[in-house]
Amino acid sequence: MKFNSRRTIRCAVGTVILCLLGTSVARSQSGKAGADQKPQMSEDAFKNIQVLRGIPVNEFMGTMGFFAASLGMNCTDCHGDDSAGSWDRYADDTPLKQTARRMVLMENLINRSDFGATRMVTCYTCHRGVQHPAVTPSLDEQYGAPPPADPDQVEMIPSVPDSPSAVEQILDKFIQAVGGAQQLGKLTSFTAKGTYSGFDTEFQKVPVDVFAKAPNQRTTTVHVTAGDDTTSFDGSDAWIAATNKPVPLIMLTKGDLDGARLDAELTFPATIKQSLSKWHVGFPPVKINDRAVAVVEGTAGGGTHVKLFFDKTSGLLVRQVRFVDTPVGLIPLRVDYSDYRAVAGVKMPFHWTTTWVDGQSTTELSNVQPNAAVAEAKFMKPAPAVSRGAASK
Ligand code: HEC
Ligand code: HEC
Repeated sequence: MKFNSRRTIRCAVGTVILCLLGTSVARSQSGKAGADQKPQMSEDAFKNIQVLRGIPVNEFMGTMGFFAASLGMNCTDCHGDDSAGSWDRYADDTPLKQTARRMVLMENLINRSDFGATRMVTCYTCHRGVQHPAVTPSLDEQYGAPPPADPDQVEMIPSVPDSPSAVEQILDKFIQAVGGAQQLGKLTSFTAKGTYSGFDTEFQKVPVDVFAKAPNQRTTTVHVTAGDDTTSFDGSDAWIAATNKPVPLIMLTKGDLDGARLDAELTFPATIKQSLSKWHVGFPPVKINDRAVAVVEGTAGGGTHVKLFFDKTSGLLVRQVRFVDTPVGLIPLRVDYSDYRAVAGVKMPFHWTTTWVDGQSTTELSNVQPNAAVAEAKFMKPAPAVSRGAASK
């Protein structure tokens, strides 16, 4: 999972990674309660968990992504060369793992004793993407040009007062830009085919299928060499079944669940105003790919903060960034949308790139069938991923 921006962190394992993010407790809003619908906890899924206990697997994997991104390390840097290609060996202790455990306890202690139990200090506060934090101020930095503002930073806050009508205006312009509410109402489902490439395919293009049904069901299956990797959201619960994860079926919770829901809702954006709450605008002006964007921030049902970036000229959504909670800090996940094309009178992005602490992937659609029949079963909990042949681990 891992990954870091500057240094292209290549992931460990031929096995892979991708991570998820997420956080705690399951919510069961669909009345489908039952043991089956409870997320698996880290200490039940893994063999040697001493500090990060009592959190669901997706949140645990998000924490690993947070470590990797904060220190600029690959999974196998901490887990040892023998862990490449063997999830079992991830349970072995190494000196760096032991130090990382102590650092989690230190972070908690600092926050408890000096910051009133608010998580102000994280691994990234000190490490800034490197294994050995700098301890001496840099004169080059002090006298050099400051780096450009990063529009994704959660710390970037509105510089002018909020205005509900300004939010409304941006969202209305978007709805108009994609075809208008009436047209959106006529698109109730689709199936799509295309290609996917990413860390987990060694950037080779492989086939992908997307199934979606309004208002908020969505399933994506990527046909990687090792098997089929499926992410699905049925309207209330979400799962990932992937061949490259240490656990073949992972239920998504909190921030990951918020994300799956949002991805599904943005697929049919007529109800975008209800998808998030506590909207904010008035962020400092920023550009994406040299184009001015309007930034709004909102909060998803599970408490996840999300920023949406709309092209000021076209009104179209060009980026979302969400900040998924883990026990040690927030991990950013970004989706960049482009190549909007009309499908049954509704403009949809045919190209998107997802970037997170665990890797980067690009999906390109080539063929979309609007209002196609999609069986309800498509969105339900997938079967655990099974590797084809002898390919993996
Ligand atoms: C900075 C060091 C560090 C990095 C980098 C790191 N891990 Fe870990 N990993 C740990 C520690 C520490 C534990 C044990 C946590 C505990 O005891 O609560 C662990 C445990 C695990 C386990 C559970 C193994 C078992 O069966 O007990 C898995 C799986 C895992 N890591 C996967 C990953 C992946 C995938 C990555 C890359 C995204 C990664 N880790 C990156 C430190 C690290
Ligand atoms: C208050 C600052 C601070 C925070 C917060 C912090 N670290 Fe560290 N960390 C350090 C310093 C300083 C070192 C020693 C670096 C050196 O040896 O040059 C270190 C060392 C480490 C090492 C050993 C590196 C090596 O090569 O020996 C690991 C692994 C590590 N930290 C992981 C983490 C993780 C994971 C977190 C978050 C849970 C974290 N750190 C949070 C300051 C911090």
